[in-house]
Amino acid sequence: MESLDHIRDEIQRLIRQAASLDALEQARIAILGRKGRITELMKGLGGLAPEARREFGAALNRLKGEAEEAIAHATRRLEDAALRQRLAQERVDVTLPVRAEPEGRVHPLSQTIDEIVAIFGEMGFSVAEGPDIEDDFHNFTALNIPPEHPARQEQDTFYLPEHQGGRKVLRTHTSPVQIRTMQKVKPPIRIIVPGRTFRSDHDATHSPMFHQVEGLVIDRVTHMGHLKGCLIEFCRAFFDIDDLPVRFRPSYFPFTEPSAEVDIGCSREGGGLRIGAGGDWLEILGSGMVHPKVLANCGIDPAEYQGFAFGMGIERIAMLKYGIPDLRAIYDNDLRWLRHYGFLPLDLPSMTGGLAR
Ligand code: PHE
Repeated sequence: MESLDHIRDEIQRLIRQAASLDALEQARIAILGRKGRITELMKGLGGLAPEARREFGAALNRLKGEAEEAIAHATRRLEDAALRQRLAQERVDVTLPVRAEPEGRVHPLSQTIDEIVAIFGEMGFSVAEGPDIEDDFHNFTALNIPPEHPARQEQDTFYLPEHQGGRKVLRTHTSPVQIRTMQKVKPPIRIIVPGRTFRSDHDATHSPMFHQVEGLVIDRVTHMGHLKGCLIEFCRAFFDIDDLPVRFRPSYFPFTEPSAEVDIGCSREGGGLRIGAGGDWLEILGSGMVHPKVLANCGIDPAEYQGFAFGMGIERIAMLKYGIPDLRAIYDNDLRWLRHYGFLPLDLPSMTGGLAR
């Protein structure tokens, strides 16, 4: 028992002397570990007479309890000290300059799509998608473009090899998603469809792969006035010009009747192109009231529902809005180009985003 007092002092000293959490852990192992001081003593209990064993065992247990408590106490003390030291040393320098601009840029096409989605989102449209590889029915037939129709040649379609009696196509426009949506959901419908489209065409203003955004509205009382109001609103918001002149010019698409092409006012005086100025017109999209046959093809009763649709090229309006001269550069992945025409990821697209840079 006397030597236990001795050991107690020794243990307490070991704990007190530990100057760091690491050193304290070493001390804990030396005292309570598998080969520690107290563990070894416990092992010796077996050799004692029952009476002595009970007495010595109880004393050892007390000693063990005291050691554990002292270690817990020392742990808290050392942790506090470590925290105080960090607080004393670490400083936030509020005078440091803000972090440099992020390196990455949002591609102007992505930015333009985000802006289009923001504008139509505000008007209550949701975004729909469809496959890039389409079948003949969705890309043509259901859109009232029969097999012998010249539009099939006009659109310079990429055909996939014949397979099981049919040829799939790379969709030549986003209009097949009109069909897919009307087949799937009951009116009222209000969607836009930004997506990739493909035509066999390649020069400074045409790329074999390009993007369109389709719009489709179907409801019981939808008329040409809604089409006009919606598209005028869009053009003015997108180009951020409140009094932008917008003109509807009669046109023809097999899947709309009547059809109209939409022009915005511009000026070409002095060689440059100024959007919003008067004197000249620039075509930016196609539109029309959804053809009754198209509604019927999708199982919608044209006597009950009407609607309008529109489609526009995204590259074209991105180039107009942001002054991008050559379409091909859009896909070149030249970092210098992207640094110049790209957008900061933290600039959130808004109804009128982008222009005031
Ligand atoms: N799909 C037509 C095109 O690619 C555009 C369009 C869409 C026209 C919807 C009218 C209605 O040229």
